[in-house]
Amino acid sequence: MNFDLSFYRGKKVLVTGHTGFKGSWLCKLLSMAGAEVTGYSLLPPTEPSLFKLANIEQEINSVIGDIRDLAALQQAFEKQQPEIVLHLAAQPIVRDSYKEPVYTYETNVMGTVNILECVRKSSCVKSFLNVTTDKVYLNKEWHWGYRENEELDGFDPYSNSKSCSELVTHSYKNSFFVDGRVAISTARAGNVIGGGDFAHDRIVPDCIRAAIAGQDIVVRNPFSTRPYQHVLEPLAAYLMIAARQYEDIKFAGYYNVGPDDVDCFQTGALVDLFVSKWGAGLKWIDEYDGGPHEANFLKLDCSKLKAVFGWKPRWNLDTAIEKTVEWAKAWQNGEDVNDVMERQIKEFLCVNKKETNRSV
Ligand SMILES: NC(=O)c1ccc[n+]([C@@H]2O[C@H](COP(=O)([O-])OP(=O)(O)OC[C@H]3O[C@@H](n4cnc5c(N)ncnc54)[C@H](O)[C@@H]3O)[C@@H](O)[C@H]2O)c1
Repeated sequence: MNFDLSFYRGKKVLVTGHTGFKGSWLCKLLSMAGAEVTGYSLLPPTEPSLFKLANIEQEINSVIGDIRDLAALQQAFEKQQPEIVLHLAAQPIVRDSYKEPVYTYETNVMGTVNILECVRKSSCVKSFLNVTTDKVYLNKEWHWGYRENEELDGFDPYSNSKSCSELVTHSYKNSFFVDGRVAISTARAGNVIGGGDFAHDRIVPDCIRAAIAGQDIVVRNPFSTRPYQHVLEPLAAYLMIAARQYEDIKFAGYYNVGPDDVDCFQTGALVDLFVSKWGAGLKWIDEYDGGPHEANFLKLDCSKLKAVFGWKPRWNLDTAIEKTVEWAKAWQNGEDVNDVMERQIKEFLCVNKKETNRSV
């Protein structure tokens, strides 16, 4: 299916979680497309942060506020009058959710209720997309990819709060939007990698920190399998779903977004790939630290996204790691990372045109 970022030219888009890793890349994409973007979220969750390094603030209208604060969110909403809302704000780290379950549920569940309340009360929104995760499913540790109609019941507080966020969205859709006034979707994406992720307890940021410090990379679960993909993959899919359903509500639905099976790697193999791209004698060690339960095997079946939109992933894992290393080295060398992002986005869009004769 044809999809062009130019759809977003002049569109008013509200992005929650805009100061985060995915939010910063998303704002960059939207700003390059010529959208009028307002972001609503807390301050960047890490120091350093992609948001600050790439100076995303200059390209959008940034509002710093808590998603749990309905009145403040409503105010930002009314001021911008968005036509499209992309909801990313969340406490997204599994291990942190064990330490702060109440905060995780408040942010991830009540945050979703609050944003949907704003959508319900507005007359401007035509398209809403809730960004959840591959971890929303009841994990059966089996070798097949989960499908969208399978049971939602994440294990740990993060995963489970995202299952709840899905259910909240389903209820709002059924209760308040059956008239078709707003197209409502959720997107369940796999683990993303890319330049500018500084989160703790995520494997690729851990690799980059170790590489820069000249230390061995410590891998906690080398045999766990995850659907890794470059951050631009799900972001392009989110933009595609939000645009298509804006034009035709029949595209609204619940969608998995993940890599092809060949790119569902074990974490150890992913780190091997990182080491080969980084070079300079880097190595990793297997050091299980007895942390809390995390799923071992997780794959998504993305047939629905492919069948409905003719979508397919553009960058395989090799390219995704290459682009991540390129970004990290550019940052290390003091280059302008905003330029690097812009270049990588253009490459991503061009590859698409060349390889599939479609635009994003
Ligand atoms: N990174 C991944 O691999 C991945 C995979 C699947 C889904 N996701 C989802 O994508 C979204 C973005 O993830 P990310 O990796 O960019 O995370 P991130 O931690 O980099 O960004 C999270 C964003 O949410 C904001 N936020 C957190 N608590 C908030 C609160 N109480 N009020 C307002 N804003 C708040 C932060 O300020 C930040 O802007 C999340 O919803 C996450 O669950 C991420």
